[in-house]
Amino acid sequence: MRLYYFKNAEDLAKPITGALGLDARPLEERDFPDGEVLVRVEPAREAVLLARLYPDVNKNLVKLLLALDALSDYGADRVVLVVPYLPYARQDRRFREGEPISVKTMLAHLRRYPVSHLVAVDLHKPYIGDYVAGMHVVNVYPAERYANAVRRWGVDVVLSPDAGSLHRASTLAGLLEVPYDHFEKFRDRETGEIYMKPSGAMNLQGKAVALVDDILATGGTLVDACKNAKLLGASAVYAVVSHCQLLGNAREKIRGCVNALYCTNTIPCEYSNVDVSEDLARAISAVL
Ligand code: R5P
Repeated sequence: MRLYYFKNAEDLAKPITGALGLDARPLEERDFPDGEVLVRVEPAREAVLLARLYPDVNKNLVKLLLALDALSDYGADRVVLVVPYLPYARQDRRFREGEPISVKTMLAHLRRYPVSHLVAVDLHKPYIGDYVAGMHVVNVYPAERYANAVRRWGVDVVLSPDAGSLHRASTLAGLLEVPYDHFEKFRDRETGEIYMKPSGAMNLQGKAVALVDDILATGGTLVDACKNAKLLGASAVYAVVSHCQLLGNAREKIRGCVNALYCTNTIPCEYSNVDVSEDLARAISAVL
């Protein structure tokens, strides 16, 4: 079995292929001056395709479709697609009339090719897989690694910045054997502005808090939750986020509140201290 990888995913491809004994090949990729892209694959009946789609999500999505189409044209009848961070997943429902359910659109496109499994880390919503029939969606959540990362801080409570991340808080809290709770987040869909409040009576006086979320984009959500936790008396706030985009002045905002930040290497950055390659290798091995 061969594993093709996007050049930007070599750091993940090496340990994964090492662990699984696969033959690793980088995808041949070209970027043209006008913005168009091209890829080239070697024919394979079965393949694992490791595609890091962030940054440059739109360009990388086109490369992905081209690669899948070429593999399919050359007779591939089974592709295990590994997308460490699945973009467009936040638009998992219609927030305003007239909008698409973007993640459903993405999955529908993938489904046109012989993709048997889509393996991703910490999908924005676990139910995203229900949007597509005939393709198994495997959601890898490295909870044990997060627990190992924050255990030394003596965390008293795990919090999520909104109800949508409550399942992450509950999983991590279970491993740390501490309680969990969440804030309520309201977003103005026109302006993007967010407003947050505790979900009820929340006493954080003197407590060490672990905050969990899937994505850190501008840092607004995480830092709002951190500030709220500190206003409620938290002595320290440690954050665990799967996909760190760190846009704009996110770094500055985080430094102003969060005591320590742990991110995975789905999107490499200076906070990528949680390596998910072994978890991905295990998930791939389970479906091969
Ligand atoms: C939203 O539902 C996500 O789970 C994240 O909370 C959000 O994408 C983070 O974005 P930002 O860092 O810009 O607040």
